[in-house]
Amino acid sequence: MRARVDELRATGRSHALVPTMGALHAGHCALIRRARREAGHVTVSVFVNPTQFGPGEDYLRYPRDLDADRQLLEGLGGVNVIFAPDVNELYPGGREAQRVWVDSPGMSAALCGRHRPGHFRGVLTVVAKLLAICEPQSAVFGLKDIQQYCMIRRMAQDLALPTRIIGIETVREQDGLAISSRNTFLTEDQRAQAPALSRAVWLARELIESGERSAAAVEEAMEQALIKAPLVELQYAEVVGAETLEPVAGLEPGEKVLAAVAVFFDRIRLIDNEIVQVPHVC
Ligand code: PAF
Repeated sequence: MRARVDELRATGRSHALVPTMGALHAGHCALIRRARREAGHVTVSVFVNPTQFGPGEDYLRYPRDLDADRQLLEGLGGVNVIFAPDVNELYPGGREAQRVWVDSPGMSAALCGRHRPGHFRGVLTVVAKLLAICEPQSAVFGLKDIQQYCMIRRMAQDLALPTRIIGIETVREQDGLAISSRNTFLTEDQRAQAPALSRAVWLARELIESGERSAAAVEEAMEQALIKAPLVELQYAEVVGAETLEPVAGLEPGEKVLAAVAVFFDRIRLIDNEIVQVPHVC
């Protein structure tokens, strides 16, 4: 990868990175198409990052099939390099040998981070490593993982990294379910109820756009929409500031807020979100 980066620098060819954990799907294809528009050379990294999984999470069960990913990328076209390092290359000596981590304790305490201690520290650290290795001018991430996107963008800003962080709209199934590698684990009944997530965040948009100004009322409405689906186990339904991820009490006109939800179907955790601009009511 470093040799390729040297070549790119020598020829002045622009470089975009799409970091992934494999199990590629239509959502990743949208990121890659955008990367293609950004740069003459596209790298897709495939690395299931152990440090972003907590104890009891699905690190070992996470789907891994590099041949299938390679085939999908060949079919899609436009990807110059698949960078799939071994875990010992990114973490020589293992997790214990890692002495320096990247984190934002404040932002990590919000939304998913509150329920997944250490997750965003793992994400920021591995993304910092991938950016340092690949030296891309731009890197593309999905807005489904909105907290991840906000924190990576903030990392790039606060650490003066030279990479432009680009976010791409969530790609959805026809019934609204946000596409995710974890959807493949859902049973038929769970899959039938999974659109409850998108319905909940769209309801939040509708309420805010039609004049609701209490974050608590919007959260309550999202919760009610979610628990209507009997197989849903609610983790959170929150409205926070879209930049800071901090709680908002009243919704101020002109402000951008994030309506975000996380639920479990048994052990399968799904998330969704909408960014909404609070309108000025005439
Ligand atoms: O979104 C993902 O797939 C991962 O969190 C990322 C950004 C590739 C870091 O491991």
